[in-house]
Amino acid sequence: MADTITVTDNRTGKTYELPVTDGTINAMDLRQIKVSGDDFGLMAYDPAYKNTASCRSKITFIDGDEGILRYRGYPIEQLAEESNFLEVSYLILKGELPNQTQMDRFRHEVTHHTLVHENTRELLDGFRYDAHPMGILISTIAALSTFYPEARLVNDAENRWLQIVRLIGKVPTLAAYAFRHRRGLPYVYPDNELSYAGNFLSMMFKMTERTYVPNPAAEKALDVLFILHADHEQNCSATAMRGVGSSKVDPYSALAAACAALYGPLHGGANEAVVKMLAEIGSKDNIPSFVKRAKEDRNVRLMGFGHRVYKNYDPRAKVIKRLADDVFEAVGKNPLIDIAVELERIALEDDYFVEKKLYPNVDFYSGLIYQALGLPMDMYPVLFAIGRTVGWLAQWEEMLVDKDQAISRPRQIYLGESERPYVPMSER
Ligand code: SDX
Repeated sequence: MADTITVTDNRTGKTYELPVTDGTINAMDLRQIKVSGDDFGLMAYDPAYKNTASCRSKITFIDGDEGILRYRGYPIEQLAEESNFLEVSYLILKGELPNQTQMDRFRHEVTHHTLVHENTRELLDGFRYDAHPMGILISTIAALSTFYPEARLVNDAENRWLQIVRLIGKVPTLAAYAFRHRRGLPYVYPDNELSYAGNFLSMMFKMTERTYVPNPAAEKALDVLFILHADHEQNCSATAMRGVGSSKVDPYSALAAACAALYGPLHGGANEAVVKMLAEIGSKDNIPSFVKRAKEDRNVRLMGFGHRVYKNYDPRAKVIKRLADDVFEAVGKNPLIDIAVELERIALEDDYFVEKKLYPNVDFYSGLIYQALGLPMDMYPVLFAIGRTVGWLAQWEEMLVDKDQAISRPRQIYLGESERPYVPMSER
């Protein structure tokens, strides 16, 4: 059997044979299907790209039905158990696990790019004390583009790598600065002796002690959470990174756009929304009435549930749920966990959620760990952005070197007015 499909256009009786590659047809092959010579040709209509492959990628594999997630072929469960975030970052960027020399060099490069230009502090001072840290992070990441004008040389591999290690090093610093600004606390400079997660905790929570000593359970939990959030193929924010990056803008400006997409409550903002939802529910007794609302009112969602791709349990949620037990043992149990576990139990027995295949996703339990670590709710999407920065950058670079790609510019179905003459004000 040929790897083709045969399409009959019933408007003309003509048939067309379209090649099938990697389970897809090339949308441009539809353009030959016309009803007349001057017809533009057929297009596909796919709002929110629910059934459109935008690229070929080798970075992350997801099987939504089986609940599988792999970075460069390695199962997320094994990476969470055996690896660390910087090693996983190298893997996602380079496609292979590093040897010791490569790992030491990469760690050195990232660690020595954690400082930000001192002018950034003045920029931060312009924000209100109650500015949402995601708004601060998006702004300061974009501002970094003004300190590194050479970053616009996106076709130069060496230059790209320099900007990549700068961003992986600096995003946690900007995130911590956002937190410290809102607390009216002095900014804490990076401590190059600490791990990636340990340094972030130090920049967040160091007070007057000479050296910050991270809680090992908190450090480990954050490192695993960064791993679990590192990439997720063509999600909304990765699509923003690829789309904005396709105009050949510098990676700081593109990453600010990706961060902005992540900020939305349907995407990375869900972890903050989950904790607010659990606090609003308040007790197990109120769960049935809340679930009823989530089923009946389209404006009420069971935040942290459902996924465009996963129609099974999000494998990350399973790891995070186990991680939560370790963290609560070390730093004290988050009382909301009991409501979360009961809410999950009730939802997974409810036909509405079962039929729509709505399972807990990465955001359902992550916020409870962040809260137990003493992080304020509005910092949760910021933590998501720290982990996802490496995924955005890997997707960005893969797009730039992909010969199939060009500037992202979809078509539309025009339903507006046909041509009409201008009407002077006196005649309106
Ligand atoms: C992330 O794409 C990624 O990979 C994202 C991410 C990543 O790592 O990058 O995994 C991270 O964003 C996780 C998702 C976090 N968001 C939430 O938890 C918010 C709550 N979830 C939903 O809003 C929703 O499930 C989405 C946005 C996640 C997915 O939306 P879809 O695929 O567009 O599905 P949909 O909104 O069309 O819902 C299908 C049906 C609808 O009912 P009907 O219109 O068919 O009657 O399911 C219902 C929805 O009303 N539904 C829910 C629901 N999610 C979907 N009903 C109640 N509660 C929910 N959470």
